[in-house]
Amino acid sequence: MAFTIAIDGPAAAGKGTIAKAVAAHFGFAHLDTGLLYRATGARALDLGGLDEDTAVRAAETLTEDDLARDDLRTSDAGQAASVVAAIPAVREALLNWQQAFARRDGGAVLDGRDIGTVVAPDAEVKLYVTASDAERARRRHAELVKARPDLTLDEVLDDLKARDRRDASRDTAPMKPADDAHVFDTTSMSIDAAVAEAVRLVDAAR
Ligand code: CDP
Ligand code: CDP
Repeated sequence: MAFTIAIDGPAAAGKGTIAKAVAAHFGFAHLDTGLLYRATGARALDLGGLDEDTAVRAAETLTEDDLARDDLRTSDAGQAASVVAAIPAVREALLNWQQAFARRDGGAVLDGRDIGTVVAPDAEVKLYVTASDAERARRRHAELVKARPDLTLDEVLDDLKARDRRDASRDTAPMKPADDAHVFDTTSMSIDAAVAEAVRLVDAAR
């Protein structure tokens, strides 16, 4: 039986962490849809640039290897992702696959920006996870600084804000909470508390 949990929200809010834990708790499959856009952006850069033709070609020919690249978590891949994510034909090329994943047997958790609004508008549970800009920058900085010791908190903050602005203002599938999403702010929540709250909301819907 299909059961879909949609988790959306701005960059580094904790979507992926919550999605992974909730999927493990219920034995559901998990898809990080941001990875599809990051891989499309990275591949488009390899193919020559972030223009529409190249980005669509990258999205249409994505392979498992592209999704397993080790450079997808960098700021550059994130920025490239949000540029190609604003191109409607790129989103269209990635949509069917995400929708099939969402309705697979056995349950699915998808995290991204437009899961509750576009990919799975009929999802049984929708969460919109947020946290303050400063807290999100702190969290992402802590992850990236190991590989880039010179990276400052301000650089990360600027990076996240630029991406959020682009993601919220695009015409196609902008980042926003679905009307029926549970919005929760994790600024002063531990990971365990955020996961427990998400599990409670899913249990209530089952
Ligand atoms: O998927 P998204 O970009 O929204 O965020 P994430 O990758 O799940 O979380 C970003 C970082 O914040 C990770 O290192 C998490 O461990 C951390 N985090 C946290 O410190 N407190 C939370 N309540 C949630 C996530
Ligand atoms: O982990 P973080 O929140 O920093 O980013 P991500 O979820 O990996 O997404 C990277 C970029 O892909 C976002 O900034 C969006 O531009 C795009 N994206 C999207 O447009 N729609 C989705 N469902 C997921 C990601």
